[in-house]
Order: sequence, then structure tokens, then C-alpha cells
Amino acid sequence: MTARLLSVDDEIQLIAAGTAAAPGSTASTCAPELAEGPWVFDLQSPTYGPGASMADPLPAEAPRQGVLPEEYTAASKSELDTRIRRAKETLGDSVVVLGHFYQRDEVVQYADFVGDSFQLANAAKTRPDARAIVFCGVHFMAETADILAQPSQAVILPNLAAGCSMADMADIDSVEEAWAQLASVYGSEPDAEGRVPIIPVTYMNSSADLKGFCGRNGGIVCTSSNAATVLEWAFERGQRVLFFPDQHLGRNTAKAMGVPVERMPLWNPRKPLGGSTADELTDARVILWNGFCSVHKRFTVAQIERARAAHPDVRVIVHPECPMPVVDAADGAGSTDYIVKAIAAAPAGSTFAIGTEINLVQRLANQYPQHTIFCLDDVICPCSTMYRIHPGYLAWVLESLVDGVVLNQISVPASVAEPARVALERMLAARP
Ligand code: 13P
Ligand code: SF4
Repeated sequence: MTARLLSVDDEIQLIAAGTAAAPGSTASTCAPELAEGPWVFDLQSPTYGPGASMADPLPAEAPRQGVLPEEYTAASKSELDTRIRRAKETLGDSVVVLGHFYQRDEVVQYADFVGDSFQLANAAKTRPDARAIVFCGVHFMAETADILAQPSQAVILPNLAAGCSMADMADIDSVEEAWAQLASVYGSEPDAEGRVPIIPVTYMNSSADLKGFCGRNGGIVCTSSNAATVLEWAFERGQRVLFFPDQHLGRNTAKAMGVPVERMPLWNPRKPLGGSTADELTDARVILWNGFCSVHKRFTVAQIERARAAHPDVRVIVHPECPMPVVDAADGAGSTDYIVKAIAAAPAGSTFAIGTEINLVQRLANQYPQHTIFCLDDVICPCSTMYRIHPGYLAWVLESLVDGVVLNQISVPASVAEPARVALERMLAARP
């Protein structure tokens, strides 16, 4: 059984202060700078800030957060707590606060709904009277919520620098260019069964532009919960799939469906034909965009071996954004929702080693003290972009709403939102 763990933020603060971590907690972080307020990094380009995605380059056009007023950066935890609760009370049902599973506990405590990205976008639909949806997640999640929300609702991302390094690895220009090159190899004629040469599939973790691209080109969106169903949908209609941006989710899912790894070339947008020959592309079943999640890339087979040596009865569950050898070595792989449900359904006294973002793992460990639950990686390395949402930003956007000012609105233009909605609706209609 696990002793109650500190929040990820509290542990990071202790580590940065050089204080011994609490019993049962891990003792190091990949980026001690995370202990600083995210506003210290918001104005610094060109990286994402400290943490698991700090080495990924920030695209020039990625949104940047302006200066957070000093009254929020200087406020104590308890002052922010009072101000957030007061603003929420004043706003009542006119606002709904959404918190992603990976969000820090210090923010999740104010969320009306906590869930994965798609659950949250749908949760917002259950509150059509809320004029503002404050999305404590990352940019692509707020875009999806805006696409699915009522036109009268404003979706707010408390810190505009909360992007997703993986989503930013595939931009619309590179995907359009890849599509043109693939068309030059495949042409556009269907085969004898009426299947077109290639279908684009984008992971939910992508910009609205890419969802729109899929809507316009006979393609579809998937989440990590329904990727296999979506690939089946695509194979019924196409001879091949172009899957972006996450190579690992694409590879792990297609491999489990029996697609040989040799028939899944990687598309490198900086090379002609993505780095493959025309013959290799003709033989391909799934072309995998060269993207990855810096958080999930940290998990290794060696970590799994260590967990098994220390806990012979351990059940290892990882997210399918982990590299293929890690998924192969685990006992199970699935979305954040799958992980949450697997733990909820386990008999008391179970032991789990989890390969996903640390805020979710530590929260689960605290929610289920009857189990032993720990993160495969013993270095504390949260999703640094999700971490950009600090209570200071939440207080700022909520108090501004009280004053009638909508800050940081994420608004997807209709020309993108309409085809993106088509691709999302195809996903909803796809059934196993
Ligand atoms: P979900 O789709 O499960 O919310 O996961 C989002 C994510 O960012 C995973 O890395
Ligand atoms: Fe993006 Fe990875 Fe963070 Fe998820 S965990 S939001 S994929 S960087």
C-alpha cells in the first residue's frame, strides 16, 4: 500500500529547495526549474520551457503568453485559492472549468470535470448555458472544445503557452506537402474494391488545421481509446493510411491489428518522399509521421524490468504513446481512461507500475490507497506544457470574466472548424 504522496508540484518545490522528499515519493526531477512560476518561461523562446518537452523546438507561429499581472505572480497559494473560489462562486453556472488528467492537482481541485481530452470536450456540451469554458489542458484540447461547443460559448486557455510539443510536430504545410508527394506516387484511382489509395488519420493531439485537413480529404480523427476502430474504418475505405502526428500510437495500434512493422515506414517531412522509396511507399499499409510525445518517450524496457524485479506481482500498464518495445514489454497498453478504469476495477492489494504522465499516476496512487501504484519512471518529469497552467493564470482568467472580459479565447475559424467537425463526426460514427 502506498503512503499518501505529495502533489507533483509540492515534490518539485521540495526537490528545488534541496529538502529531502517525503517518504514514498521520488527524489529527483528532470527540470528543477519547474519549481518556478511558469510566467518566468512564458516570454522565453524558442523552447517549451523546462520539463519533458523542453528539447522540442517551438514553432514560430505557436501562441505565446503575454505578461501575467504581478498581482497574480506575487500572490500566495492561499490568496489565489480564495480568489479562484470567490470568482467561481460569483460566476456560478456561467462558467465551467475543465481539468485534464495530466493537469497539476493545484488546478484540478477547481475543475468541474476531470477527464481525458475527448471526455472534457464532451463534458462541455453538457453545460450549454455556460458562456465560458475554461480549459485547463493544452491548446489542441481547447480547439477541439471550441469546435464542439455552442457558437455562443467562449473557450479559454488560461496560459496560451500551454501547447503540445507532439501536436506541433505536424503542421498543415508539411502535411499538405506530404499529401501531394504521396499523390504523385499513388495517383487517385481506387482499386477493384473501391478503396482509395490513402486515407489520412489524425490523432486528437493535433491542431484543428489537421483535423480540418482530414475532414476535407476523406479522413478521420482518432483518440488513443479508439485508434484500432478508426484504423479499421480507414482500411475499409483505403488501401493505406497516413497517420499523424504520433508515430508510436500509429505503430502500436497497427501492429496489434496484424500490420507488419516493415510495412509502416516513417515519414520524415524534411526528406523527399519522407525518406522512403516509391516502392516502399507502394508496399506500405501505414505511413507514420515522425512525431512523438516527449513525456511518453521517457519510458523504457529497463524500467519495466526493474519494476518486475522489485514487485514480482506487478501489473505494468503503459500509454500507447510509449515506444513499441515498451508497449510490447508491458502487461497492457491503453489510453488515460483505460488506465484509470483498469485501476478502478482491480482487487484491493494490486500493484501497478504505470507508464504515463506523473500527475495522473500520483493522483491515482492517492485515490486508491488500497493498491500500490507507482510511475515506471522514478524521475519526476511532468508534461511541461500542461504544467504551464498555474493557479495564478486560472485566477486571472476567472476574475477577468467576473469583470466581463474574456481573455485568451481559443477560436477556430469556421473554414477550419467545419471540416474538422466532419472528421470528428466520422470518428463518432465509426463503430467496432
Ligand atoms: P488523452 O487523449 O487520453 O486525454 O491523452 C492526451 C495526451 O496528451 C496524452 O499524452
Ligand atoms: Fe502533448 Fe505529450 Fe503533453 Fe500529451 S503528454 S499534451 S502528447 S506533450
